Amino acid sequence: MDKPIAIIGAMDEEVEELRESLTDRGPVCTPLPNLPLSTGNLGRQAVVVCRCGIGKVNAAMATQYIIDQYRPTAIINSGIAGGASKKMQIGDIVLGTSSMQHDFDLGEFGRPRGIIPRLPTSVFQGDPNLLEVAFHAARDMLPAGKVHQGLIVTGDQFIGSKEKKEEILEFFPDALCVEMEGAAIAQVATANEVPHLIIRAISDLADDSAPQDFEQFITKIVPVLNRILARLLIRWVNRTRSARHSANR
Ligand code: ADE
Repeated sequence: MDKPIAIIGAMDEEVEELRESLTDRGPVCTPLPNLPLSTGNLGRQAVVVCRCGIGKVNAAMATQYIIDQYRPTAIINSGIAGGASKKMQIGDIVLGTSSMQHDFDLGEFGRPRGIIPRLPTSVFQGDPNLLEVAFHAARDMLPAGKVHQGLIVTGDQFIGSKEKKEEILEFFPDALCVEMEGAAIAQVATANEVPHLIIRAISDLADDSAPQDFEQFITKIVPVLNRILARLLIRWVNRTRSARHSANR
């Protein structure tokens, strides 16, 4: 079997449709009590689809497990997010050029918010090749103004008030969106030298109406995200096969 790309989402609502669209789908396995994983193909790309659960610890555990067990060539974190920047609207797509943990706080030791001491970096860079392919895949489906690239910030908090959002923006003025797993997946992927990309669709604006918007829009937005992922994988397969072909000539 070709080495897979891992697609990790936090909630069933974020991975169910993908799981159902797998061809040659293996049985769902749950190596850890709350970690359903499926293998199969999306188009011509071998994938492992995993529902990791909500939050950074669940996300980190799942990522390390998948890397150890399946040796994926790349990891994609797909899901929804709250818009942070004023540019964001519900339904927009954000591709993470980088990610940070907005709730990592060693301020008492003079460290800026989000900085993890004694690591080579606290800013986890999305893979440029995946980013390029994802951008074209998203632009195949959406107008330019709805596809954004930039910083994604992650924390173990659902952001549902203007005050909390503004506090995060004070520390991370460039943040495009907030979510709860991306930078944890990115940190583990980076530590293992596996390329990764976070792709998020905006379900709410991380303000007082966030809980209701989130519920209302998740089912409308995830199918768009999944169509972008399918296109991304087609482009990715074509790109890696033509790179291999030229290398063999
Ligand atoms: N995921 C979707 N919306 C979110 C929000 N407002 N805060 C954190 N994670 C989210």
